[in-house]
Amino acid sequence: MRLDLPVYAERFGANIFNNVQKIYEFDGGYELDDEFSSPFHVIQQISHERLHEIEKDMAIIIPVKNERLRLLESVLCGIPHDCLPIIISNSQHDPIDRFRMEQSMVDTFCRHAKKRYILAHQRSPELAQIFRDGGYSQLLDANGLVHAGKAEGMLAGITLAHLLGKKYVGFIDSDNYFPGAVFEYARLFAAGLSQAKSPYSMVRILWHSKPKVVGEGLFFAKWGRVSRITNQFLNQFFSHFTGYETDALRTGNAGEHALSMPLALSLDYSAGFSVETYHFVSLLEKFGGVMPSPYPEVMKAGVEIFQMESRNPHFHDADKGEDHINEMIEYSLGVLYHSPICPEQLKKEILSKLRRSKIISKDQEPVLPRRYPALASIDFKRAGKSVNWEVFGNYVPK
Ligand code: GDD
Repeated sequence: MRLDLPVYAERFGANIFNNVQKIYEFDGGYELDDEFSSPFHVIQQISHERLHEIEKDMAIIIPVKNERLRLLESVLCGIPHDCLPIIISNSQHDPIDRFRMEQSMVDTFCRHAKKRYILAHQRSPELAQIFRDGGYSQLLDANGLVHAGKAEGMLAGITLAHLLGKKYVGFIDSDNYFPGAVFEYARLFAAGLSQAKSPYSMVRILWHSKPKVVGEGLFFAKWGRVSRITNQFLNQFFSHFTGYETDALRTGNAGEHALSMPLALSLDYSAGFSVETYHFVSLLEKFGGVMPSPYPEVMKAGVEIFQMESRNPHFHDADKGEDHINEMIEYSLGVLYHSPICPEQLKKEILSKLRRSKIISKDQEPVLPRRYPALASIDFKRAGKSVNWEVFGNYVPK
């Protein structure tokens, strides 16, 4: 692959937020071009070998809730062979058992592709047992099952990936129409993570565009309604501490992102659709130097965040309604608002934005989404002891 070197960055404590990197070639050629090693070059070439090394150690977690089977199948098709797909489904069992349909499709697909996979129902007793055994009851509800929600499915996926010895986790939504875009995201995850010098790293995808039909043509929108607002407030949050106005943070709601396992286990998380914005809040709170850090080793090694602009348009099932969009805005701004380090002035501006947009009423505060402590607190030895991997697909660890 040929892409920009991450030359410009914003620093916040131990965090390095690299500016958006542009991709020039997905396939950068078989031979490595020596010229790219010149210190004056601003472009880099990442070898096939390096990308494959990372992909072998990476699980791609796919959250699913009642999506069309064809979409899920096309996502599977886009995932590079060496990555392990971990599908966490919260699809209905009644009146039609959509989860069973997913099981059957995924198994048939992976039989043909001769591909290993993990598929777990988010609300299954077998999945819940792992968290009970590992002493992480925060993820379990009153019925003793994993809470519903996208973030909760993602946390379950990270835990399974760690139990299976994976070093990286990537996340790709299951409602993507273009397998080529999925393939690109997975490759960008590998390319991004390969640049890290610290064991604590993250890659966030900035979509090239989200095409929409407008009149008789296509319009390639750059910013979604939610990300436009989240990024604005995130950058204000950031600028308050640095004293310099910035627009460097462009991936506040990046559903497509990847993490090195040590970072995935060290961050705190928040529920549902606030999860991606909360990554930033957790990074600033834990490693920003404003509050004492519970992880001195991370403060020493630093955290590297790479933002990468994809080339494929992102074409997904977008018709999920106004309430869904408003909920995402409230959740994203809610995690900024409730952070103990959120400046008072910004809190006022968040309240005013949410009230003016009629997302909350005049006397209401934004929702405080449920929080989950770092997954590092799980006793993984005990969590993995009684897992029957055959229940979760065709990947049986040696
Ligand atoms: N396992 C699981 N559990 N998956 C879920 C759940 C759940 O409770 N709810 C939704 N999903 C799956 C969906 O099937 C889809 O694959 C993915 O999570 C994203 O859900 P959508 O409802 O399609 O979200 P969106 O497209 O509006 O928003 C996406 O993009 C945003 C960036 O614009 C999400 O990835 C957001 O998190 C992201 O911020």
